[in-house]
Amino acid sequence: MPINVKKARDETPGATNVLHFNNAGASLMPTPVLKKVMNHLRLESEIGGYEAADKCAEAIENVYKSISKLLNCNTKEVAVIENATRAWDMAFYSIPFQKGDRILTAQAEYASNYISYLQVSKRTGVEVEVVPNDECGQISIEVLEKAIDKHVKLIAITHVPTNGGLVNPAKKVGEIAKARNILYLLDACQSVGQMPIDVQEIGCDMLSATGRKYLRGPRGTGFLYVRENLLNLLETPFLDLHAARWTSINKYEIRPDARRFENWECNIAAKLGLGRAVEYAMEWKLDHIYARIQHLAADLRKKLKNIKNVTVMDLGKEQCGIITFMITGQDPVTTQRSLHEKKINISVSIAEYSRLDMDARGIDALLRASVHYYNTEEEVERFCEAIEILS
Ligand SMILES: Cc1ncc(COP(=O)(O)O)c(C=O)c1O
Repeated sequence: MPINVKKARDETPGATNVLHFNNAGASLMPTPVLKKVMNHLRLESEIGGYEAADKCAEAIENVYKSISKLLNCNTKEVAVIENATRAWDMAFYSIPFQKGDRILTAQAEYASNYISYLQVSKRTGVEVEVVPNDECGQISIEVLEKAIDKHVKLIAITHVPTNGGLVNPAKKVGEIAKARNILYLLDACQSVGQMPIDVQEIGCDMLSATGRKYLRGPRGTGFLYVRENLLNLLETPFLDLHAARWTSINKYEIRPDARRFENWECNIAAKLGLGRAVEYAMEWKLDHIYARIQHLAADLRKKLKNIKNVTVMDLGKEQCGIITFMITGQDPVTTQRSLHEKKINISVSIAEYSRLDMDARGIDALLRASVHYYNTEEEVERFCEAIEILS
């Protein structure tokens, strides 16, 4: 395994305090990211917030360069936004929908995205259609292909859903979107940082991501990618003096780059921390990160399946570092609390986060354990022992 786990853990102060299987909630921040954030906050306190930003102007620009390297895009195509939801919103609400347009999405769609479809549908009369899963539990490419007609304005899917362990076939969806010249928005909130993401390869036009999950960045950070040739076609829902220039009393000019989706005031320390987190992930190499995550996840799935009363609920042909399961007759929140008392962190996914999928499977709530490359085989073992005692 190319990942030096000892080094990874030495650089993760939290790893000695907790068994952290809540990386899809928020990963433990590594020391270089923490230092970057703290140093900037200190500088702000010493010389002033605006002055500190001026002093770090080049470093702030480098955040965009790092993100564009991570995604294989141009720096002009990147906006840094406070979280994945708002990043996704800025792209989605910029699309000029008209009555009769169709939006195609998938069964695993995230709550916030679906709520936005419903709102826009109510406002404009667009139709929202859910492409069913194939027999593996991922979006059916066959049905998607058949569903396309000239009214489809947008294909928008979640790459790695909040629950279910699956990785949707984003690239295959991209091929269809490209061939039919349809806008393609990918919610990559839980895949960025976990696996290599190349927007050229995937073929998406817009992609949203967060900093705190698999990228191990600070909370309150996220970003949006928008393909350059689309920028002028997307009228952002909000403008301010950063997104546009007030050129004369009755005129304004929107920025030509993706920063038209940003607003002026932001948490500079967190932004710098995000940039460091992106560089840090690239130093480990995304394919190495994903290989180790998949190794640990496969180990955990296998061990959980051997525990009496435990059912692993994951879907998909390709499965990632998110493992969802249930313990017969146990309330997931009670289990989560019991584990927390043993310094074991996991999360609970409730139906409301992903209602299309959870309702279809008749599930109210699931336990969600999410592993990262700095976790160990020994932690997997210890976690399963704790589950065995509780089950
Ligand atoms: C699939 C998916 N999309 C979007 C989000 C929202 O991300 P954020 O909290 O950064 O807005 C989440 C959060 O859990 C998610 O799981």
